[in-house]
Amino acid sequence: MDIVYHGKTKEFHLFNDDISYIIGIMPDGSPGQLYFGKRVHDREGYSRLIIREDRSMAVGLPSDERFSLEMNRSEYPSFGTSDMRHPAFELLYDNGSHVSAFKYMSHDIRDGKPGIEGLPALYTEKDDEAKTLKIVLSDELTGMELELFYTIYASHPVVARSVVFRNKGKEAVSLVRCMSLSLDLPDHDYIWMQFSGAWAREKYPVERKLDWGITAIASLRGHSSANANPFVILKRKHTDESAGEAIGLSLLYSGNFITQAEVDTYGTTRLMTGIHPERFLWEICPGGSFHSPEAVLVWTQNGLNDLSQTLHTLYRRRLCRGPWREKERPILLNNWEATMMDFDEEKILSIAKKGCEAGVELFVLDDGWFGARDDDTGGLGDWYVNTGKLPDGIAGLSRRIHDMGMKFGLWFEPEMVNPDSELYRAHPDWVLAVPGRDRSLGRHQMVLDMTKEEVQDYLYERMSSIISEADIDYVKWDMNRTISECFSIGRSAKEQGTVYHRYILAVYRLYERLIADFPELLFESCASGGARHDAGMLYYAPQAWGSDDTDAVERLKIQYGTSYGYPIASIGSHVSECPNQQTGRVCSIETRANVAYFGTFGYELDLNELSDEDFDKVRSQIAFMKKYRGLIQGGRFYRLLSPFEGNYCAWMVVSDDKSRAILAYYRVLAEPNPGHRRVKLQGLDPDMRYSTDEGEYYGSELMNIGIEISAKPDPSRRPEGDYYSRIIVMEGIQS
Ligand code: GLA
Repeated sequence: MDIVYHGKTKEFHLFNDDISYIIGIMPDGSPGQLYFGKRVHDREGYSRLIIREDRSMAVGLPSDERFSLEMNRSEYPSFGTSDMRHPAFELLYDNGSHVSAFKYMSHDIRDGKPGIEGLPALYTEKDDEAKTLKIVLSDELTGMELELFYTIYASHPVVARSVVFRNKGKEAVSLVRCMSLSLDLPDHDYIWMQFSGAWAREKYPVERKLDWGITAIASLRGHSSANANPFVILKRKHTDESAGEAIGLSLLYSGNFITQAEVDTYGTTRLMTGIHPERFLWEICPGGSFHSPEAVLVWTQNGLNDLSQTLHTLYRRRLCRGPWREKERPILLNNWEATMMDFDEEKILSIAKKGCEAGVELFVLDDGWFGARDDDTGGLGDWYVNTGKLPDGIAGLSRRIHDMGMKFGLWFEPEMVNPDSELYRAHPDWVLAVPGRDRSLGRHQMVLDMTKEEVQDYLYERMSSIISEADIDYVKWDMNRTISECFSIGRSAKEQGTVYHRYILAVYRLYERLIADFPELLFESCASGGARHDAGMLYYAPQAWGSDDTDAVERLKIQYGTSYGYPIASIGSHVSECPNQQTGRVCSIETRANVAYFGTFGYELDLNELSDEDFDKVRSQIAFMKKYRGLIQGGRFYRLLSPFEGNYCAWMVVSDDKSRAILAYYRVLAEPNPGHRRVKLQGLDPDMRYSTDEGEYYGSELMNIGIEISAKPDPSRRPEGDYYSRIIVMEGIQS
């Protein structure tokens, strides 16, 4: 891995064993994108790719009309001079002009990777893991400076990027558009893949071919959302899970965002991602600066499984932090679907005790333990224990759970308030709302104005006191409605354009304060399920509740879709009761667990209500997960059969040394008189023999011939019925 600067031609070449990223300073002084893709030789002269030509209707430099930004590929394009496409940024100057002209001033190449204050970012543990290039540009007329950051890792085919604007001039300037990254690609032969859905059906992959015009995915909800996720893939026509070229683009940010690809009529693609410019305006005063969130580009020529595996490893090891980042996640039991808010201490202890008998390691008390909270119409915001339900407080309950030998976790929804709460009655101006206008409600609640220091301090004081007094091991941090009337009471008119961004910075800040005080605490983020399961959040909370939809069949799709951009260890997944609360579907306890194993794993039901037979199965499931979670959560994950394409779903994990693997396959509906369908495995050692409960096989057999997954038409056996699934463990035999 290295970053080489060729001074004569002003070219930068960032490369590692897999990829090259080449930048060249163009005749107008701005940085041009010369190449991103498979590693090429380092040499001087790639600036031959800068285009100078006569072309009707194009405009160019006054000193060299043949050089037009429109015909070239820029690193961080602006609008207003000779580029007619959408820009990466826009600055609004005092005289009403939006035109900027940033020119190369200097650069700096250093080992390692700097962090970004107040924002999530990839990091390094040792300086030789990565190198970072900073290119400094300046706009002579206004005194604005722009810093472009690029980090290349030695052992991951990724480039991380962010930008900083600094006002070195004499007048305040408004930043009204700030992408984290823009990448111009020389063609548009790509299929765009986004991950969108809604509550209870998060992260469904959606594909469309890029063509002239703009393809975009965005959130204006104040959080990344279940509807849109800040991660997209551009793949070539023939790219599939195991072969072919693809680019992944992941934004480390949990607020309003846009990711878009603009294909111009010359067939080039401009891919960009960053804070959504709608309602964004950040004034940068002289001496001030603004740092964008970070975005990560991944490149592969080995298919989508490889691209996902890169992100899984990178995010697990260099985005997640703290003692839990690579630790096996505790098997938990959550009372939500068992009791909702209708519980008392006795009820909770009886559920917890049964969990303990089954081998559960962490008991989580969900919503309803505080204030006057018997349903979702009241109490939110009053973070004081409801002693009617829990006479000895959270501390008393926590002690009893700890005495059973389990860890204890607690639910919070810090960012919200019910109008029917002591908090709202005392501070009606602590919410986001426009004075004189209606305040929209969602789940009977409003959004606290997290940008206010006093709100942050109240939440910090309440959460940290409870966490320390009650010795809490795990926090589920929920967020159950989108932001509306995004207006911060008391702020100036101009500052209103900062509120969406300040909001998410404040969420990050509160996390950061709690992490600093309680470094051992395990956070699980949640937003009505997976509505804030994004890369930014992983920096604070290494796991996220995947979806409120715990139906095993629905979870196949949600977990399959989530696995494209996020580690398996980050996907909160539970076995819940049947009929399922979201779909009414009845799946066996085996299938429910066979799906939930591929995540953090836990239960969300009253185990006392299970038959003895099912309870014994739960015990064995927990024992199974304890034995194999290291492999499942830390191994290489391969998607084999997509639940979006047929009646079957299959995936597998393989240990880094290929000596162990687990295959899981699922058949959604029963098939009469089925054929003999096989699935071919991936990632095994072809020469290794693997033992399974069906016999011994070479890796080469399993990968090329496959394993039969259709039920055998054996007349002596009853058919398995709908929602059938099977787990096959493969242990390599050392010869
Ligand atoms: C959200 C979460 C659920 C549960 C409830 C509690 O919907 O996604 O898991 O915590 O809130 O109100």
